[in-house]
Amino acid sequence: MAQRPYIVGNWKMHGTRAMLSEARAIDRAAERLLKAEVALAPPFTLIHAIRREAQLIGVGAQDCHPEDGNEHTGEISPAMVKDAGAGFVIVGHSERRSQHHETDADVRAKAEAALAVGLGVILCVGESTSQRDAGEAEQAVAARLDGSLPRAEHAAERVTIAYEPLWCIGSGCTPTVGEIGAMHRMIRARLVETYGPGGAAVRILYGGSVKPENAAELLGADEVGGALVGGASLTAENFLGIIVAAAEREA
Ligand code: PGA
Repeated sequence: MAQRPYIVGNWKMHGTRAMLSEARAIDRAAERLLKAEVALAPPFTLIHAIRREAQLIGVGAQDCHPEDGNEHTGEISPAMVKDAGAGFVIVGHSERRSQHHETDADVRAKAEAALAVGLGVILCVGESTSQRDAGEAEQAVAARLDGSLPRAEHAAERVTIAYEPLWCIGSGCTPTVGEIGAMHRMIRARLVETYGPGGAAVRILYGGSVKPENAAELLGADEVGGALVGGASLTAENFLGIIVAAAEREA
């Protein structure tokens, strides 16, 4: 059976308890839109509250530390993320890679630590503007994947890839459907090479300026299994526009 499109909201550094009403509205609406699978990745501080209130949607974290233990003031381990009620964690978001200097090896370590405690993983990869302009987008994304894909046993069953071109995040620009399809086909081939037949079932999300107005078109690109949504996931109204577009494609 084909998998349902997976629509994940990344709230980034947004969200106080006042935003729990948006999460509740998204959860209620998801009950009517079962043709799409919906999840939110709020800041750490809201994971527990959203998990407690939401019946249907998945809840995840936006990052985790790769180790357990003592000497990491201010950090959150995968076990703590799970204990707060998260079912998955996003790793390797370009903002973490650029602002916190995370390398592919760091991202892979986080992904493997998250899998080890039973969390799912959404691994982000994408090329920079200069890499795209130089015609090196596919090589750049392939290198990111090779360096950061977790190699743990059964990893393919709990990993999702998010292809997020850096020049599209928060910019209002998106690649063409053809460009997205070409990149997703390359990622699929790489997943099958790494994981064997299990790589064929790994979901590959597109992320970067997904909005209600362009969701149907972007979700129609080859090998796109859903979307990772930043800005447009912050209100139930916008996020639901994307979820409806995804659910209608499956109708
Ligand atoms: P955006 O962000 O939808 O606001 O472009 C996407 C992301 O950073 O995951």
